[in-house]
Amino acid sequence: MTAQTTRLQGRSALVTGAGSGIGRAICGRLCDEGARVACLDRDAAAAKATAEAIGRGAVPVVADVANTADMRRAVEEAVAAFGRLDIAVNAAGVGASARLVDTALETWQRVLDVCLTGVFVSSQAQARQMIAQGGTAVIVNIASTNAQQPGEGLAAYCAAKAGVEMLGRVAALELAPHGIRVAAVGPGLTDTPMVARLLADPVARDAFLDNIPLKRPARPEDIAAAVAYLASDDAAYVTGQTLYVDGGASMQRYPSLAARKPSAPAA
Ligand SMILES: NC(=O)c1ccc[n+]([C@@H]2O[C@H](COP(=O)([O-])OP(=O)(O)OC[C@H]3O[C@@H](n4cnc5c(N)ncnc54)[C@H](O)[C@@H]3O)[C@@H](O)[C@H]2O)c1
Repeated sequence: MTAQTTRLQGRSALVTGAGSGIGRAICGRLCDEGARVACLDRDAAAAKATAEAIGRGAVPVVADVANTADMRRAVEEAVAAFGRLDIAVNAAGVGASARLVDTALETWQRVLDVCLTGVFVSSQAQARQMIAQGGTAVIVNIASTNAQQPGEGLAAYCAAKAGVEMLGRVAALELAPHGIRVAAVGPGLTDTPMVARLLADPVARDAFLDNIPLKRPARPEDIAAAVAYLASDDAAYVTGQTLYVDGGASMQRYPSLAARKPSAPAA
């Protein structure tokens, strides 16, 4: 889907998790709407591939979102490339699947580190730059329907995403006096490498599709369109909110592990 607007013309953006799936689609959409985009991923080859595929001045940035020194440098690189930071999108994330009683502490910490601490570290570095440069700016975090909707086998992921929503709401309050908005997009099941194993399994796929009124997973471009809206002046009066883009799934009951058997969930 190609955007027809130029509502992000002249804006500078930094997108984390840019090497794959949703983050990659966001980079493309922001660029289509006129933004210059720094494509950040911890996977150097993936960040480079996204930036090259987009062209139009997009630059790759290699960083771990949970590392404060990395994220300080990443923001500096984006500002060195484009002069300022108007839009930050925090899409980097990892999934893990285990029942609470079986979840290793290492698994819990890995998911919390990337999905929640990563958003804290990233938005802190981004907000410091946005405050210093002055003018309006926006941070969009990628949460999940799992911020509100519990899923069996997803304790770490659900807890992390609920934290992302609340962190963003606190940030929205604190940054509003500086002219900085903070919002989130909450995707439902989205066709990306993160859930490829789940979608390839007919039992699990049917359990999820049964739960989605619009009867298909999201495309990464569906999520990117919502991010572009929130990043634009069309959302100039929107802050502290999460926009769920889930085909209606959060109105239903999240599929149980039993409904997804015999396969284990992949996200
Ligand atoms: N796919 C879904 O069904 C779904 C649903 C709801 C929310 N989400 C969220 O959307 C976001 C994007 O997920 P996706 O489905 O595109 O996944 P993906 O696996 O396709 O892409 C995630 C990207 O993040 C990068 N990444 C991971 N850890 C990182 C780190 N520490 N530092 C920098 N980069 C890192 C990976 O290298 C990868 O390129 C995640 O936050 C995820 O939780 C996904």
